[in-house]
Amino acid sequence: MSDEVRFSLTVDGTSHEVTARWSESLLTVLRDRLGVRGPKTGCAHGRCGACAVRADLGDGDPHVLCACLVPAATAAGGTVETIASIGGPDGELSDVQEAFLAEGAVQCGICTAGFVTAATELLESNPEPTRTEIEEALYGNLCRCTGYGRIVAAVETAARTRRGEAR
Ligand code: FES
Ligand code: FES
Repeated sequence: MSDEVRFSLTVDGTSHEVTARWSESLLTVLRDRLGVRGPKTGCAHGRCGACAVRADLGDGDPHVLCACLVPAATAAGGTVETIASIGGPDGELSDVQEAFLAEGAVQCGICTAGFVTAATELLESNPEPTRTEIEEALYGNLCRCTGYGRIVAAVETAARTRRGEAR
């Protein structure tokens, strides 16, 4: 019996028909089968957040998850938004991305899509997070380069910008 499964998956607004092995992760399907390279491969074990995407796996409740932990077939019929869905349609940076650049919160960049994805979800549900709430929201994301202070400062800056407050 074949261990492959065929299913549809919408990624960043584009519908795909995917054939993948049952054991393949959503991250592998995105990067290696569909060429969607925004989510990064870090630990591949759910510990670094580099692969974070926002996904609706069919329950109508989109949320941020680690694509390396999700068997791709469980996303059948679902929708995935990667970092490509966060900026504007012509590549404009989002306010969160702008804040990361302004605060020097990006160095090698392998962690950045995951942090921006998690931070964006936080600010959509909580426009005025405390520093503790920011740290808790980013708890599943690791950065080896910047130190976390600049990243937390970037999220605070983005939150102030969203609220129309001066930086
Ligand atoms: S690559 Fe998925 S959490 Fe590290
Ligand atoms: S910028 Fe390099 S790991 Fe975060």
